[in-house]
Amino acid sequence: MIHPSELPSDTAELIDHILERYHETHRRQLTELIQLARRVEQVHAGKPGVPSGLADILQRALGELEVHMRKEELILFPAMRRPDGMRPLDGPTSQMREDHSDQEEMLERVTAMTADFTAPEDACRTWRALYAGAAEFRNDLVDHIHIENHILFPRFETMAVQA
Ligand SMILES: [Fe+2]
Ligand SMILES: [Fe+2]
Repeated sequence: MIHPSELPSDTAELIDHILERYHETHRRQLTELIQLARRVEQVHAGKPGVPSGLADILQRALGELEVHMRKEELILFPAMRRPDGMRPLDGPTSQMREDHSDQEEMLERVTAMTADFTAPEDACRTWRALYAGAAEFRNDLVDHIHIENHILFPRFETMAVQA
C-alpha cells in the first residue's frame, strides 16, 4: 500500500500524479490485458483453470473505468483545482466512492477467477503474461482507489462543518 509520504502533498500535483500514474496506466493495461485474455480463452478453451469470461469482464471494466475517470477528469478534478475549490464536494466524491466499491468488487471477481493470479504449472507465456499483468493492474487500481478515498477526497469533504 502506498504511503502518503511517497506522494506530492500539493493537491494540483497530486491530481497530476493520479492522472499520469493511474488513469493513463489503466487505459494501457486494460487494453493489453483484454487482448491477452481473449487469446488465452480461445487457445486454451476447455482446459482446467482457463479463466473463461475474463476478457468480457475486463472489457466491461475498461468501459466503466473510462466513464468514471472521465467524470473525475472533466468535473471533479477541475473543481478541486480551482482556487476557491475548498468547499465541500461531498456529493460528487460520494458518487466516486460508490464507483470505487464497484471497482473493488470487479477486482475480487478477477482475483477469484484467476486463482489469485496463479497460472497452472504448464501455462504458456501468454497465460503467464496475462496473470502477471492482471496482478499489476489489481495492485495499481487498489493504490489508485486508496489515494483518492483516503488522501485526496477527504480534503474536500464536509469542509463546511469545519469552517
Ligand atoms: Fe481516479
Ligand atoms: Fe476514482
